Order: sequence, then C-alpha cells, then structure tokens
Amino acid sequence: MRVRKAVLPAAGFGTRFLPATKAIPKEMMPLVDRPIIQYAVEEAAASGIEQIIIVIATGRSAIEDHFDSNASLERWLEERGDIDMLRTIRRISEFGTVAFVHQREQLGLGHAVLMAKDLVGDEPFAVILSDDVMLNPSGEPVTRQLIDAHVTHRGSVIAVQRVDRQDVTRYGILDPLHEEGRLVEIRNLVEKPSVEDAPSDLAVLGRYVLTPKIFDVLEQTSRGAGGEIQLTDAIRTLIGEQPVFGYQFEGTRHDAGTRLGWLKANVAVALESEDADEFRAYIRGLDLRD
Ligand code: G1P
Repeated sequence: MRVRKAVLPAAGFGTRFLPATKAIPKEMMPLVDRPIIQYAVEEAAASGIEQIIIVIATGRSAIEDHFDSNASLERWLEERGDIDMLRTIRRISEFGTVAFVHQREQLGLGHAVLMAKDLVGDEPFAVILSDDVMLNPSGEPVTRQLIDAHVTHRGSVIAVQRVDRQDVTRYGILDPLHEEGRLVEIRNLVEKPSVEDAPSDLAVLGRYVLTPKIFDVLEQTSRGAGGEIQLTDAIRTLIGEQPVFGYQFEGTRHDAGTRLGWLKANVAVALESEDADEFRAYIRGLDLRD
C-alpha cells in the first residue's frame, strides 16, 4: 500500500530552546526565512506524501495559522505588486491537505503519534520529527528514501545514522542483527541508554515509516524513559511480530531543537540559499582564529 500520509508531532514544550519557545512552538523558529516545520512539510511533499497531520498542543495556534491562508496579507502584497512573495505565501497554504490534531497532555512522542490514529487509519504512514532537519540537496529527500526502502522490504523502516559514542544518551539506539548496504536488520531498540549500556552507536533520527499496527501497540505501551510514552518502546514491541529495519540514509541531519544544531542548520540552509555567495564571502572574511 502506498505511503500517503505523514504525522508531524509538534506539541512539545521546546524546553531546550527556552526562552525563545516560551510563546511559540520550537517548530516555528525560523531557519533563514522559513519556520523549521515548513522544511519538514516540503520534504514530505517532495517525497510523495499527500496528507500531512500535525499534532499540536492545545492552545497553540501559530502552526495552524502558518499553514492557513492569510487574505489581508495576500491583498496587501497584491496591491504592492510583490508577486514573487505573494506566490511564496500562497504556496504555503497549498501543500495538499494539512490536518491538525490536538494533544491535550504532553505524555511523550509515542502518545503524540497515537493522537493521529483516526486520521491515519489502516495504512502505512511516515513520521517526521521536524526539529531533525534533514538536508540532502543533490539527492532524494530522506522521507522518500525510507518510503522506497519500505516498498522494497515491507515492514517498518527507521532512519538511522552513526553518532559519537558519548551522544548515545540523547537517542533511540539500535542493537543491530545484520547490516547489508544501507539496510540494518534490528534485534532490539533502546531509548536513551547510558554510554555503557548502549548496544551500538547507530541512532534513530527523526524519520520513520510505520505500519498501522503501531497504534495498537502504542495503546498498550506504558511510560518508559523520562516517564514518557516512547515511540521507540512501541517499535521495539513490533520487532518479532513484523519486520523492522533501520535505514542508513543519505543526507545531513541537524538537530535544530538545540541552540548549536539550530545555528549549524541556519548556516547549511544559508549556503544553499539565494544569498549563498554573499554569505560565503562574509564567513570567509571572519577572523576565526582563537
Ligand atoms: C526522539 C526519539 C528518539 C530519537 C530522537 C531523534 O527523542 O524518542 O528515539 O533518537 O527523537 O531526534 P527526543 O529528541 O524527542 O528526545
């Protein structure tokens, strides 16, 4: 069955980015000239996704407003003859269907994904964590790579990449059974292990293609690491019942949910933007000696 839908959890408090995220969701922080979540929506659209389901926290409407049309802004741009910007603004509300579901309590990533159960229905779907910004300017979008792997191998597919050993505590970590090219057969998964307990340095990074069976499992999943209902724990339960693979994707990932990761993502995006030449010259001109 085709992967037509993507769930984008965006209901977290963004605590690693306070105070910037006190009044706006971290997904609305800009990368150069677009909010972080727009990169995820564009990646989904470029991967063939037709319906986006964004899970937002009750009472936070900035993301909904961003994907809605804004008649007065459009009229103002039209009157000024700024047709390029008018097109850019209109395109945002024309991504296909963007639906919103509310997560009333922040009980974890697994719980956020579960909120989309009715809208996803009985079909495989993608999950995109937008603060993991995935850039692959000359190749396939990362979500597309996972969908292709799902079509070839069936079952669920999780984006993975090697991380520095001391960073394993921040991620879901794979216990790999067998690696063949980019594909990793998984024996087990553990959420945020200690450096000593980590079964490998292969980390789950924010892209997944999951079968709808995950919803039944999530309903039965109790709180795990950090007292939260973890998506990783539910996927671990699936192993053994259904094939679950890691896919070592091609592309660069920036953790835009942290200060340093966000800064790096801005530089990477700026170097691909229309301001790239001037920005590169500016960086070259900086005195970066200690
Ligand atoms: C989540 C997942 C974790 C994954 C990470 C990738 O953690 O629970 O398994 O490795 O995203 O960014 P979070 O960053 O929400 O704590």
